[in-house]
Amino acid sequence: MKVSIYGSGYVGLVTGACLAQVGNHVLCVDIDHGKIEALQQGRIPIYEPGLEDMVRDNVAAGRLSFSLDPAEGVRHGLFQFIAVGTPPDEDGSADLSHVLAVARSIAEHMSEYRIVVNKSTVPVGTADRVRETIARTMADRGAALEFDVVSNPEFLKEGAAIEDFMKPDRVIVGTDNPRTAELMRALYAPFNRSHDRVICMDVRSAELTKYAANAMLATKISFMNELANLAEQLGADIEEVRQGIGSDPRIGYHFIYPGCGYGGSCFPKDVKALERTARQVGYQAQLLEAVEAVNERQKHRLFEKLSARFDGKLSGRTVALWGLAFKPNTDDMREASSRALIEALWEAGARVRAFDPVAEDECRRIYGERDDLVLCDSPEDTLTGADALAIVTEWTVFRSPDFERIRKELRQPLIFDGRNLYDPRHMEEMGFEYYAIGRGRRA
Ligand code: UDX
Repeated sequence: MKVSIYGSGYVGLVTGACLAQVGNHVLCVDIDHGKIEALQQGRIPIYEPGLEDMVRDNVAAGRLSFSLDPAEGVRHGLFQFIAVGTPPDEDGSADLSHVLAVARSIAEHMSEYRIVVNKSTVPVGTADRVRETIARTMADRGAALEFDVVSNPEFLKEGAAIEDFMKPDRVIVGTDNPRTAELMRALYAPFNRSHDRVICMDVRSAELTKYAANAMLATKISFMNELANLAEQLGADIEEVRQGIGSDPRIGYHFIYPGCGYGGSCFPKDVKALERTARQVGYQAQLLEAVEAVNERQKHRLFEKLSARFDGKLSGRTVALWGLAFKPNTDDMREASSRALIEALWEAGARVRAFDPVAEDECRRIYGERDDLVLCDSPEDTLTGADALAIVTEWTVFRSPDFERIRKELRQPLIFDGRNLYDPRHMEEMGFEYYAIGRGRRA
């Protein structure tokens, strides 16, 4: 089948590469010259395991190509995927200008039936706005062609996006047209394992499903962080509690890890956008507001602990920082907890020596060159002359470090662990003063 995808960012590229991988002919369209040029030369603008090889293989096989020309995009695919960004406006609602611009552009160039598929995360009701925009733009040019608008939200985790796309738990398809539902089923048939993964529903329910999934996951995390903070006051260990409750299949072990808050491009943005949507229809989503507020507070927990340990005197101190990305296996620092910590440390007059396996370039791009930030070549390098070590991302390389070396290199054996990587008792035996999240009174 022929597919066009507008927006060669994270979602667009992964969707394009995976649809090409199963035999479709995919054309990715973007307005960014630099990006398209790089992609045509086989360079991928983002870090995602497996993506570069998949793009290269499919370009070589003639199933995947890139273009700056929207007219070519509209000619090419029966399926017209919109995968452009929906950044939050100042008030937290999703900015739809890119989505609607693509809709207009499709309408301007359309000459036969097309299925417009919305992959971007957009507020409930956006498919209707896309439909209106296309109809109006077509009417302006005196055309009245048939088209459908489908909601097909993505559920890709950064760092595991290829796997998530190739082996989905579910594929949500929102459409009011049964014939379009069948075409979407056919497009996604190669990704069904053992049973049909495609769930068809009405458009608005599909749009809400995306927000509901992310808000539910964010709620689980904020709930655990709240309990972790309480455990610190009560002298209980949240890791024991986590295992205790996870064993109940109704709760489950997934996504109940306490830590220094959730970040990334989805949870913070989507929780805020859903809260905003609720307000627009006159409903106050109290639970969502609390999820968001608890997370904001949690992102500052490590700094609070550091500050308390140094009696508020962090000026002139140096902190070694392990991890910059909002989670492992990505270079993404959007809404990362590391940023809250780094900025609070700077504010307090401290310096940071940081290491991240892949996010250092991104960190340089965000903060530029500064005297109070040194980006190091290895985790050990960060320790030189540092007063404490803080850990904010659970990269595998941090899980079993050379503790003897850490103890020797740090000015004092002091660790603030925002991801609960180590056993507090073991740390104490090794002579560390170890602060984690929710692990008894010492936490
Ligand atoms: C998420 C959703 O998982 C995905 O389905 C959706 O399409 C986009 O948003 P992603 O943002 O890539 O994906 O990250 P995810 O792996 O879900 O982690 C989000 C954040 O939650 C990270 O900062 C992570 O550290 C944090 N987290 C996750 C916890 O603090 N505790 C947990 O138990 C799980």
